[in-house]
Amino acid sequence: MSYKRTLITSALPYANGPVHIGHLAGVYIPADIYTRYLRLKGEKVIHVGGSDEHGVPVTIRARKEGITVQQVVDRYHNLIKDSFEKFGISFDIYSRTTSSIHHKFASDFFRHLYDNNKFIEQTTEQFYDEETNEFLTDRNIRGECPYCHSQGAYGDQCEKCGRTLSPDELINPYNAINGNSLTKKSTSHWYLPLDQYQEWLQKWILEEHKEWRPNVYGQCKSWLDGGLKPRAVTRDLDWGIPVPVEGAEGKVLYVWFDAPIGYISNTKELCDAQPEKYGKWETWWKDPDTRLIHFIGKDNIVFHCIVFPSMLKADGSYILPDNVPSNEFLNLEGDKISTSRNWAVWLNEYLEDFPGKQDVLRYVLTANAPETKDNDFTWSDFQARNNNELVAIYGNFINRALVLTNKYFNGQVPAQGTLTDYDKQTIEEFVNIKTQLEDLLNNFHFRDAQKEAMNLARIGNKYLAETEPWKLAKTDLQRTGTILNLSLQIAANLSIAFEPFLPFSSAKLRKMLLMDDVKWDRLGAIDILPQEHTLGTAELLFEKIEDAAIQAQLDRLARIKKENQLAAWQAPEIKKPTTIDEFDKMDIRVGTVLECQKVKKSDKLLQFKIDDGMGGRTILSGIAQSYPNPEELVGKQILFIANFPPRKMMGIESQGMILSAVNADNKLVVTTVSNKVQNGAQVG
Ligand code: MF3
Ligand code: ZN
Repeated sequence: MSYKRTLITSALPYANGPVHIGHLAGVYIPADIYTRYLRLKGEKVIHVGGSDEHGVPVTIRARKEGITVQQVVDRYHNLIKDSFEKFGISFDIYSRTTSSIHHKFASDFFRHLYDNNKFIEQTTEQFYDEETNEFLTDRNIRGECPYCHSQGAYGDQCEKCGRTLSPDELINPYNAINGNSLTKKSTSHWYLPLDQYQEWLQKWILEEHKEWRPNVYGQCKSWLDGGLKPRAVTRDLDWGIPVPVEGAEGKVLYVWFDAPIGYISNTKELCDAQPEKYGKWETWWKDPDTRLIHFIGKDNIVFHCIVFPSMLKADGSYILPDNVPSNEFLNLEGDKISTSRNWAVWLNEYLEDFPGKQDVLRYVLTANAPETKDNDFTWSDFQARNNNELVAIYGNFINRALVLTNKYFNGQVPAQGTLTDYDKQTIEEFVNIKTQLEDLLNNFHFRDAQKEAMNLARIGNKYLAETEPWKLAKTDLQRTGTILNLSLQIAANLSIAFEPFLPFSSAKLRKMLLMDDVKWDRLGAIDILPQEHTLGTAELLFEKIEDAAIQAQLDRLARIKKENQLAAWQAPEIKKPTTIDEFDKMDIRVGTVLECQKVKKSDKLLQFKIDDGMGGRTILSGIAQSYPNPEELVGKQILFIANFPPRKMMGIESQGMILSAVNADNKLVVTTVSNKVQNGAQVG
């Protein structure tokens, strides 16, 4: 470890919506754990973040909500910043890319590369709207997907089948905002010739950074194997940082060019504001003794491992990332999290529903962190981890240690006394916790690290269960004292071990222990709390989460799923042409439902007794799933086909077929007539 300081960055979230659990699990919690850990060790470290406020999504959001783009980014920047603060994501600075410092910095960065001939200029044909006089970005072009033929696929991706697209592949492309059809017009842009960095990147990543996570290394390798091409770093747009070149009016820096520069400009903002504390920004970005770590999600890998390093290399005066610990994705109840489909647990809403329970979410998201593969967040797992781990293991241990000390020792740490073999064996089990945690944390294995911390609470619980101090108190107060002393030392250890993961609970626990010693160095020690030290007031560290709270969340998701299904519904294609003669062969009639019930031993079938005006008939229909209470159909006039040959199902003869419509949620709805008609009337 030959570095003097660590610069930690977290991907700048788009200010086009609130942040959700996927963001937290993928990027911000791991970054925060790592930052807190290094701080606790007394290392020099800063954690830099901010909102990514340029790009197309914010402009789309503004149009949708009928407000200005600035209003959109103001609203979400503040909301996001607030959520991060409330979840204890401890940034040294959380700024934004619309700041004037950033605009100037990114503009100068571009100009410097431009002046040194680091870009190439290319003219291409792009989709253009003649009526509004604008070039369209990929996201603003829609059309038919060439693969699954669904309507409304985006110029960069089809959300139906998930395929990546380019606007040229769309069938009948149109302007997503006004529906206008599009023409092609030529426009010139600046490109970073990534092909010129290919060889250097190959050596730097594939040979010199074999230690990067396999998912990161693998993605880089496949990009490099595919051969890099020049990438445009400017766009025809009116929202962003103007391209600082004469004749480039109407062009801005591509959002993926300016956003990562935000890491640097935000560092500059921090250092300029508090130079005594943070020193010069250049020290953080240009001194080879600084270690740079980017925390990101997997969709950001290419930008942080290939594009941004090439930009830094093009400039030549910057250090490069030492590691880019990227996570895979977190799903929600089995489905991909999506801002546009509202399929997410939003942090601001979570805080309303579970006030004060930030650490519970932090714990669950780390326990399920998608470090090596996509993972699923479910509310039942959330409840189980809270009730069975935080409450039953960690909280329970702390509570017992404190309550017993209050009861038998008046809330003062008893003397340690002579340790038995069993005590020594217990100590043995956790004295290595410091090196174990360090090993895991240094290698960004946060879920395993948190598991280790929880194991310490397990050790404490087991120790109390085996030694049973509550039974000993009457006969051997001295021995009881030793057991409680050791238990309290374990509690003190827990407050240190969990500090990077569960900062709120650690602070609460320290308050209960009246403990100010939170040095990482003390981990594993059994003399953290001195004899006769007075403890604070015992409180519950965690509380049980009841079924009702979980059910409310599941109900909300079910509602959203239904809304999405309805919104995404498309009428099925028209069948092959037919003739009136074909239709006339069908004898469709009206009848009144006299009885309707489930067929025994069948999940699908309902048995209808119909007054058909001709003495009645029985019809079976496979719609039981859609009618949990079949009696509701009794008395309704329905449509049925009267001239199908009788057919036996489950031993019952069915004399016809009931007509039902298939709804968007695949539920079947029996058709009826709008006014009463005679039973047996023909439909045609
Ligand atoms: N806004 C991007 C996203 O949410 C991340 C930008 S990271 C930065 O995917 F490096 F560009 F800042
Ligand atoms: Zn498709």
